[in-house]
Amino acid sequence: MAFRQKHLLGIEHLRPEEITTLLDLADQYVDLNRQDMKHTDTLHGLTQINMFFENSTRTQASFEIAGKRLGADVMNMAMQASSIKKGETLIDTALTLNAMHPDLLVVRHPHSGAVDLLAQKVNCAVLNAGDGKHEHPTQALLDALTIRRAKGRLHRLNIAICGDVSHSRVARSNLILLGKMENRVRLVGPATLMPSQIGEFGVEVYEDMEEGLKDVDVVMMLRLQRERMDGGFIPSEREYYHRYGLDADKLSFAKDDAIVMHPGPMNRGVEIDGDIADDINRSVIQDQVEMGVAVRMAAMDLLARNLRAERANKPVEV
Ligand code: NCD
Repeated sequence: MAFRQKHLLGIEHLRPEEITTLLDLADQYVDLNRQDMKHTDTLHGLTQINMFFENSTRTQASFEIAGKRLGADVMNMAMQASSIKKGETLIDTALTLNAMHPDLLVVRHPHSGAVDLLAQKVNCAVLNAGDGKHEHPTQALLDALTIRRAKGRLHRLNIAICGDVSHSRVARSNLILLGKMENRVRLVGPATLMPSQIGEFGVEVYEDMEEGLKDVDVVMMLRLQRERMDGGFIPSEREYYHRYGLDADKLSFAKDDAIVMHPGPMNRGVEIDGDIADDINRSVIQDQVEMGVAVRMAAMDLLARNLRAERANKPVEV
């Protein structure tokens, strides 16, 4: 099989063939999800635990639905109410859960690298649902599937990622994925919201939306992540919207058939105009949500195959 990973911690670790394998399988799950009977027994007998140490609406719901459609036993840990609040370390929590023999652990954590650390301590497959400003691999994969279905390919496209790049794990995972698949990625936003090591990625950076959006195939907007800001990154929301908010005028600089994306949650009137977000001819924001479930099903299916293969080759420890 072309997908050899034990965990899904970041796009960084995936080869282009592995990305394609996962997206091809996800396409099949899109078809399944559109039928009345959505249930399979792919993960039958396996236990999936979702541990979200940061708020989430769509990612957590999407992982839960994905696991249930594949027939796993799915449990959502309420981390706000957990022992973490009583001072238990992340590792102790992980070891406690590990003793309950989960097979798939889905983790979101506010610190970059926390999910990688956890993966070293447990003996099940770990999926990163977002760690700090580091990676959000399933988001980049669902974005890739959305682009591939809308544009008919996932290479040689001009893609603009716009807004608060410096605080965004979505931008980071997308940059890595889209680069691996040989697209031209541009970053557009104020210098205060660009990461300092941006040179490493070999991308073009624009401070002006009209220049940055010129002739692009895909416009990917990012949420202004105010919870990760500790100072004056932007003058005011009004000023930000005026210069960087995606409206019909700014979008007119992109190609006529350019698609508009946003990972959600959206701040309408801050980074995106509500009419653009709702324009079914341009916006694929709802498609992204649909692709999210399919991509997470594909990711858990592939990891579970590898997990079962690994266990079958190893004598059971008593
Ligand atoms: C993103 C996240 O949490 O990184 N949301 C998501 O998963 N769809 C982006 C964001 O919070 O802006």
